[in-house]
Amino acid sequence: MMGVMLLKPSNVLRNQLHRWNGLLGVVAIFLIAGCGTEGSGPTTTGDLTFYDDIQPIYAKYCSECHWGTSPDGCQGESCFSNHYEGLLFPGATFGREDMNKAEVGLFRIDETNKLGPNINPDNYDVVLLSAAGAVVIVPETETELIRTWINNGMPEGVQTKPLAPQQDVPSTECSPNCDNKECGDDDGCGGICCEGPPPCEPKCEGKSCGYDGCGGNCPDICTGVCDWETGVCTDENSP
Ligand code: HEC
Repeated sequence: MMGVMLLKPSNVLRNQLHRWNGLLGVVAIFLIAGCGTEGSGPTTTGDLTFYDDIQPIYAKYCSECHWGTSPDGCQGESCFSNHYEGLLFPGATFGREDMNKAEVGLFRIDETNKLGPNINPDNYDVVLLSAAGAVVIVPETETELIRTWINNGMPEGVQTKPLAPQQDVPSTECSPNCDNKECGDDDGCGGICCEGPPPCEPKCEGKSCGYDGCGGNCPDICTGVCDWETGVCTDENSP
């Protein structure tokens, strides 16, 4: 469940929203500036439509919950994954009534992606969660398509093929990363690097017998007397 917008004193929430407002403004300015300087590159993203490009993304990451069988079920946010009109309702939470559902959705996708797959969702209100309680991360390429499409005015397009079906959110598998980290460090996925003692390397080089330093013995090729600590073999017959 996404019971996520609670637990916060409302003035804190309001401050955050003000900050977000500011951020969104800055982003908007960058986008405008970006467009101005881009010049004459081919605009392959200008043709994005709901049916061809965006609905499949919503189907993949949102339809587990945002899917409905009749337009009546589309009041508010509930079934925008299979009804374009569902995206046109105004936002109802986070003080984002100035946005429509597509924009609030993108805002939440961005905030969730920024926080990453391993955060504790209890501490944040905007985080998107799957029914299984996993943080929903929409990969950057798909997020960018949604962003561009919204900036283009959310063209609906024409439905020429069946909608992408309702599906469960793909789980965001976390891959532990222990590169350049010490044993005991955070692995980035809620675990620690090389849990337990590091594997023991037997030290038997140059020894003909004796302990291997890891609780075992080195291969014994000593036919004389073995010094178990050093692994030096002394000929029985030497003085
Ligand atoms: C596990 C179910 C679930 C999934 C998956 C899910 N949502 Fe939601 N969504 C909800 C629930 C429940 C609410 C109402 C409570 C809330 O806003 O958290 C909601 C509300 C919303 C709203 C309305 C917010 C507003 O202010 O009006 C938007 C927009 C939204 N979700 C977008 C998305 C997007 C985009 C995705 C996919 C990237 C998504 N959701 C995935 C369950 C889900």
